[in-house]
Amino acid sequence: MSVRRLAEEQFQPPAFSFNEENAVWAEATIRKYPEGRQQSAVIPLLMRAQEQDGWVTKAAIEHVANKLDMPLIRVLEVATFYTQFQLKPVGTRAHVQVCGTTPCMLRGAEELMDVCRHKIHHDPLVPNAAGTLSWEEVECQGACVNAPMVIIFKDAYEDLTPARLEEIIDAFEAGRGNDITPGPQIDRVFSAPEGGALTLLEEVRPVRTNLEPQPAADAGDAASAAGAPGNAARAKDNAPETDASVKTPVTDKQGAKDQAKAAETGPLSATTKSVPDPKAAGGAGEGAPAEPGTVSGDLKPKRTRKKTTSEGEAS
Ligand code: FES
Repeated sequence: MSVRRLAEEQFQPPAFSFNEENAVWAEATIRKYPEGRQQSAVIPLLMRAQEQDGWVTKAAIEHVANKLDMPLIRVLEVATFYTQFQLKPVGTRAHVQVCGTTPCMLRGAEELMDVCRHKIHHDPLVPNAAGTLSWEEVECQGACVNAPMVIIFKDAYEDLTPARLEEIIDAFEAGRGNDITPGPQIDRVFSAPEGGALTLLEEVRPVRTNLEPQPAADAGDAASAAGAPGNAARAKDNAPETDASVKTPVTDKQGAKDQAKAAETGPLSATTKSVPDPKAAGGAGEGAPAEPGTVSGDLKPKRTRKKTTSEGEAS
């Protein structure tokens, strides 16, 4: 990773201003942000300055800081942080940024940098003799699955071999960079497996989970749908409590009141056996021994406070 500093004074132009078209664009871009948030336009303005001059000059950084009413150090922080901003003059036809982070390094980034040293310049960030090409090593560009890769201006070229990178550099040097399609340089779509998909090759048919009659299907389909393990954790939609006709205390207020009244006046709960009426049952009557496990006698709570006589003695 190279140290990111502004170019030496001898390379810095004395002033910067957006050309007419870019000035209009800059004003429109600043107006996109809410009042008080115009500083959010710092990245697009710096990028437009780079596209205009080929790199981000010190004068451009100062111009953007004034335009957005930002402290100069804040704009410097942004410009020196992102490797997308070139702080020194770079190749006019291509500036090749080679990712050197671990996945790309394991997949041949060092060989790609050897190609750059051989075809462009031994040292990074030094343009070739014609000033058309330059290169540098950068950190991960977020395309690790397609390692190794390089970025040229705004496009990524992935799944590279040294030979393919040489072809790409030659094309840019010849002014035919637009003929190279960005992205993977092998037979794969984006980050899909090389040569095509390897998994999920069969169509997966959805499994019905309700109890409506299944549409006519062959026996094999019906059997596989019934036994699909994917239903194991699903809520059943035929449970009694999901029946819309079931009343609840909310939908049946009178029923709820009747139930509450019955509970107050009715027998004890099921945890206590009911007491048979000795007369009605023709039993032994009062004083007969209770059956084991039953509750005998009157279950009403008995008064335990002793009566007092008029003299105040307890009786
Ligand atoms: S490591 Fe090279 S793109 Fe992530």
